[in-house]
Amino acid sequence: MKTGIIYFSATGTTKALAEAVSRGLSGNVHFMDVTLPESRKNGIIVDNDLTIIAAPVYGERIPGFLFDFFHRIKGNGTPLAAISVYGNMGFGISLQQYREFAEDNHFRLIAAGVFIGQHTYATKMAPVAYGRPDEYDLQQARRFGESIQKKMDRGDGTPVFLPATVLPRFITAFPDSGIRLLIRQPRVKEAGCISCGVCALKCPMGAIDFRTLKIHEQKCLRCYACVKVCPKAARIAEFRFPMFRSAFNRLGAKRKENQIFL
Ligand SMILES: Cc1cc2nc3c(=O)[nH]c(=O)nc-3n(C[C@H](O)[C@H](O)[C@H](O)COP(=O)(O)O)c2cc1C
Repeated sequence: MKTGIIYFSATGTTKALAEAVSRGLSGNVHFMDVTLPESRKNGIIVDNDLTIIAAPVYGERIPGFLFDFFHRIKGNGTPLAAISVYGNMGFGISLQQYREFAEDNHFRLIAAGVFIGQHTYATKMAPVAYGRPDEYDLQQARRFGESIQKKMDRGDGTPVFLPATVLPRFITAFPDSGIRLLIRQPRVKEAGCISCGVCALKCPMGAIDFRTLKIHEQKCLRCYACVKVCPKAARIAEFRFPMFRSAFNRLGAKRKENQIFL
């Protein structure tokens, strides 16, 4: 069996979970990392027996630019498993989006999973989903892979049943760019920066100028790839107002569990 795993992962949690799922599969598994802009230039026509798509949830949905890219992946009637990774707040409408995507792009959505990854904005003072995926999450992801494999081996192409998500209208109406109201773009701490350019190299939107290391305000997702990748911890990330941090911490305090649908 040939499986293609397509994933976007700005800070590594989705990647870790996608790899754990792959450990439950047999046959030939190949990964396609679509985190950097060059990797999303062309569309994809899959020739896999199974495709797995994994992406983080931003603003209770699949980030818009990524969802647009996904629409250039054509399934040819083959099975699809979808993975949403979220930071212990909510996975929102992301599964419904995968269902619509599958219908539009000739995939059969046979499995879906929502898994928790450390929240992008977690810190020691606001440790939302800190350290996740942990060992237990990774084991569950592996088991999810095993269940998908069994379903494939049975030749069972039954479409997955997904729970309906009802979200307050204001959340779905909130544009992707709304995050800029809450989170500042990461700035450079001059004293620590050695101008190595890794932040520019690893920016999923190509939003950082290689020469000046300035970030393009409109392109910046606030995904914190640049913050996490800086070898000198010289990128500073902040909430716009300190009260947001305590609200964030409160909202994300209670541990949520992964869910799988088959
Ligand atoms: C712009 C933005 C919006 C986010 N929105 C949500 C959200 O609505 N719900 C949630 O639980 N986590 C949210 N997160 C957290 C990420 O989904 C989570 O940290 C995920 O593990 C990141 O995946 P990655 O490490 O593969 O980049 C958001 C993160 C970012 C950067």
